[in-house]
Amino acid sequence: MNVQTSVSLKNHTTFGIEVTAPRFIQIDSVEDYQDYIEVHPDEASKAMILGGGSNVLFADEPNFDVLNISITGIATEDQGNDIVLIRAGAGVVWHDLVMYSLDAGLGGIENLSLIPGCCGAAPMQNIGAYGAELKDVFHSLEAINRKSGELHTFTGDDCRFGYRTSAFKEELKGEYIISAITLRLSKNAQINTSYGAVSQTLEEMGVTNPGPREVSDAIIRIRQSKLPDWKKYGNAGSFFKNPVIPNAQFDKLKAERPDVPSYPAGEGFTKVPAGWLIQHAGWKGKRQGDAGTWPHQALVLVNYGNAKGHEILSLARSIRDDVEHKFGIRLDPEVNIIGLKGEDF
Ligand code: EPU
Repeated sequence: MNVQTSVSLKNHTTFGIEVTAPRFIQIDSVEDYQDYIEVHPDEASKAMILGGGSNVLFADEPNFDVLNISITGIATEDQGNDIVLIRAGAGVVWHDLVMYSLDAGLGGIENLSLIPGCCGAAPMQNIGAYGAELKDVFHSLEAINRKSGELHTFTGDDCRFGYRTSAFKEELKGEYIISAITLRLSKNAQINTSYGAVSQTLEEMGVTNPGPREVSDAIIRIRQSKLPDWKKYGNAGSFFKNPVIPNAQFDKLKAERPDVPSYPAGEGFTKVPAGWLIQHAGWKGKRQGDAGTWPHQALVLVNYGNAKGHEILSLARSIRDDVEHKFGIRLDPEVNIIGLKGEDF
């Protein structure tokens, strides 16, 4: 357990917002966390868990311990009949796990290439992209009870995965720290090129018989062309979730705006891309000081330099209110906003 005081979090989150953690504690093992709660029982309940920092926005200065989960290690276990279980510590960089699996000849997570963040955060919000979600290959995870320090195993059913959500964001919120994840990969994986842009990009690349590696290459190409590199332009990916609305409401919108894209979202509901709503409310590429939306994907809010958390938040609120005013649809943030002090986002 490494403890430091007054640590800048600018390089610990992909939004690159300058805030200072009064105490920054590196947790390298389950035992490290157990030691921490024994020594600091009062601070432990208020501490914030930080992984790769790819889905957080600090709206204010933290006045609590920040625990950086840095549990590493990747191991595989051949189950026979094509299936290989791959286990990764929560602190393993997600994209490194994707590359490791491809190098080992395993398919199943190639569509999730280049998603920023660490493995521990992947199940929290059931990461997804280009027609695939973590839950499709999920086997189990290990998580530490924050109060007792005990280690528990959760199956996919226990995690109650949904669109960008899981039990760890809902009924179990704040109760566990994910320490390791195990995925079920395959030596002969069926590739998934159902998402239009993927098959189109493979064609542009001249690939006729794609395997997981080629799909990963195509996804990397798409992401690099559409999404800002957080190392150059701080951001946390999609700022909002894509809203799911009742079909009757969607039919009204479609009558007014026949160009609106949509996806089925279970019986009676339709998912509408928030990026489209934001663009058509006039916010694509707009900036307020150093806070702005990305010119190639309006759903991504960007720190163009030295934006403060409250400036990003203020832009996000203006967008949310304007979209609601123009389309009657309220956007919910996908990013975890820290320091709201009980206010609604
Ligand atoms: N669109 C616009 N204007 C924009 C952005 C998008 O009109 O500025 C339209 C596009 O033309 C398209 C539709 O909206 O018809 C969907 O856009 P896109 O394919 O870029 O995907 P998305 O729904 O905006 C979701 C995920 C992304 C993921 C992509 C690809 C959410 C909240 N976001 O975005 O995930 O990479 O699909 O699968 O579900 C993330 O979670 O951080 C993230 C980047």
